Amino acid sequence: GITRHYKFDIRLQNLTRLCHTRSAVTVNGQFPGPKIVVREGDRVVVKVVNHIQNNITIHWHGIRQLQSQWADGPAYITQCPIQTGQSYVYDFTITGQRGTLWWHAHHSWLRATVYGPFIILPKRGASYPFPKPHKEVPMLLGEWFNEDPEAIISQALQTGAGPNVSEAHTINGLPGPLYNCSAKDTFKLKVKPGKTYLLRLINAALNDDLYFSIANHSMTVVETDASYVKPFDTDTILIGPGETTNVLLRAKPASPNATFFMAARTYNTGLGTIDNTTVAGLLEYSCTSSSSIKKLPLLKPTLPAINDTAAAANFSTKLRSLASTQFPANVPRTVDRRFYFTVGLGTRPCPKNQTCQGPNGTKFAASINNVSFVFPSMALLQAHYLARSNGVYTSDFPHNPPFPFNYTGTPPNNTFVRNGTRAVVLPFNTNVELVMQDTSIQGAESHPLHLHGYNFFIVGQGSGNYDPVNDPARFNLVDPVERNTAGVPSGGWIAIRFRADNPGVWLMHCHFDVHLSWGLVMAWVVNDGALPGQKLPPPPSDLPKC
Ligand code: C2O
Repeated sequence: GITRHYKFDIRLQNLTRLCHTRSAVTVNGQFPGPKIVVREGDRVVVKVVNHIQNNITIHWHGIRQLQSQWADGPAYITQCPIQTGQSYVYDFTITGQRGTLWWHAHHSWLRATVYGPFIILPKRGASYPFPKPHKEVPMLLGEWFNEDPEAIISQALQTGAGPNVSEAHTINGLPGPLYNCSAKDTFKLKVKPGKTYLLRLINAALNDDLYFSIANHSMTVVETDASYVKPFDTDTILIGPGETTNVLLRAKPASPNATFFMAARTYNTGLGTIDNTTVAGLLEYSCTSSSSIKKLPLLKPTLPAINDTAAAANFSTKLRSLASTQFPANVPRTVDRRFYFTVGLGTRPCPKNQTCQGPNGTKFAASINNVSFVFPSMALLQAHYLARSNGVYTSDFPHNPPFPFNYTGTPPNNTFVRNGTRAVVLPFNTNVELVMQDTSIQGAESHPLHLHGYNFFIVGQGSGNYDPVNDPARFNLVDPVERNTAGVPSGGWIAIRFRADNPGVWLMHCHFDVHLSWGLVMAWVVNDGALPGQKLPPPPSDLPKC
């Protein structure tokens, strides 16, 4: 591989969407941010310089960071944030990965505008396990807020209420023609009849699972989260925040209608306010003879209903690893440690002398096994490296829920969360099986859970309560999909497996930023192995200080 150098200048830039102009945090003034394109085996060196008043970090979502744990990026987990006027060099090598990933800010809600594609091409000479596309098109789905997202989340945390939702969804930063004052900000994909396009879809939205489809066209799913899947055709994609999905789009040989809509809208079963608006883009055929361009009315795609859980399950259960000789599914066959985590919302009491606007005068909170994560004031990875966990984190994260109950029935009255900076400590190479159950407290909701530092296999999923006696018999250990982010289904559960072969401290959290802010977070501490390549390297000299 070769070394690729990038410079990210974090600075403010005025952005105008929907006739609202606001100052936004950007990389190099770009929104969405710059595209990183590398090959498997390359070394990537990104110098990030912070010119704004806020602290910031950048996370390389889905990159495993083998032997470069200090470059992962979540604030207060693998590094202290980069302060105003400071810089930090993220330096890592892409080992054993290829496909579509992305990068984003990992502090507070800065990723609302600080994100971009991270594309890993196969090694030179290696090819895709599907026909070579005519063109490749990164498509970032996102959210646009008329107000400053930092103000929105800090106000929500103060009052305890749910935060204001976004005003629009976007494709590559553009809301499209279905919003007022937005027709000129429309994403357009120009295609040639008969050609095949690889769309690299990335859900960079803060808080919304999204359905995506293109009028009159089906798509072939070939990859999710930079892992190849068994190809299948679909009219609709479900994509959660943090997730990526590669699809092949075959342009029709001769087009009866020269232009088609593509659209994305929220999938949500929760009780709170949501942004249920629709972003549209255009699929435009370039026709060789002008007579074939007919001005017919645009066809809109049909998206599933906002709360269509059946469509969600139908899509996610179709995903299977390619599991070929060249790209095997290395699913752990045996399990060393089993965990059962409940994930969901809850509340915390209102502090004295305050009025809170959450449920029944409390504050909204979120938790895993009823522990609501409190970000420390020093990076956990530093504390772990220096063997000074004392006062920074505790190693007693509960392996099971504190109270068993019927998660799909009426929740218990008192669901106050407990605060903590608690981690699970794992010996090197532990084979982990983890079942995650949506609690349905404050309403059933899906939660896109993201694990840093690893890919995992989804060996089982279902609706209702997980049944530890009968469900494991149906686990797929042959070709389960391999991902870094997975939706715990609304009112249901998923079971995942991974081998803890990457020493360090790895965050796992809901990729809805509001749930992340409310504490739906925990950390895995993976100890060193015995061999040289199995140890956490020392921190780089420019690692930011808190
Ligand atoms: Cu894409 Cu911890 O995040």
